[in-house]
Amino acid sequence: RDGLVIAVDGPGGSGKSTAAREIARRLGLRYLDTGAMYRAVTQLALESRIDIEDHNAVAELAERAVLTIGTSPDNPTIAVNGEPVDDLIRTRAVTNAVSAVAAVPAVRRRLVIRQQQIITEASPVGIVVEGRDIGSVVAPNAPVKVFLTASTEVRALRRSHQLGERGVDDVARTLAELDRRDALDSTRAADPLAVPDDAIVLDSTALSVQDVVDEVLRHCEQAS
Ligand code: C5P
Repeated sequence: RDGLVIAVDGPGGSGKSTAAREIARRLGLRYLDTGAMYRAVTQLALESRIDIEDHNAVAELAERAVLTIGTSPDNPTIAVNGEPVDDLIRTRAVTNAVSAVAAVPAVRRRLVIRQQQIITEASPVGIVVEGRDIGSVVAPNAPVKVFLTASTEVRALRRSHQLGERGVDDVARTLAELDRRDALDSTRAADPLAVPDDAIVLDSTALSVQDVVDEVLRHCEQAS
């Protein structure tokens, strides 16, 4: 019998990554951060100095990019064309450009196929996959689907904290950027961020990571 597939979707700063990695560790599953894949293509586009509004150029770049992905929840890694980009993909420049790249249908088609391959490769063990369209598009048959939300303010605070920022202005700027990215991700034509019908919706505004993990593990027990 194949291992469990757990889909974790939600907007930026909802606590998806921390919770998804911890769930994978607790259940001994692999872990895939699909956002890192869109970020890696974006990083390559910026580095190659192509115009990210030029959909054909971005699509061609994504077509040729070789992504190498490590799926250990303790040490997830990603490299593009042999170059490790784990830190580079978290810069503000990449964060602010990624939604435009992720809106290109040809980029999504390419990465979704790759994500489905990784899920198949992990099937003897099982995998936790996080993103925006996992329960809806990438793994519609996943037996456990989680949609994590949190208030915009709390999400901006968490993001700001991750970035090592302190000032009120920094949080305000991060909030504005997060709002913009949410809007782009939710309104794009191809695979927008949406809550799958059969997902467990968890609002993490007032929950700790541990609360979220415990709640998801309870659902996994019921599903198995
Ligand atoms: O999760 P993270 O914030 O790293 O995702 C970065 C961006 O990648 C998102 O804002 C979204 O534009 C895109 N993304 C996506 N589909 C996914 C995962 C991420 O479109 N499954």
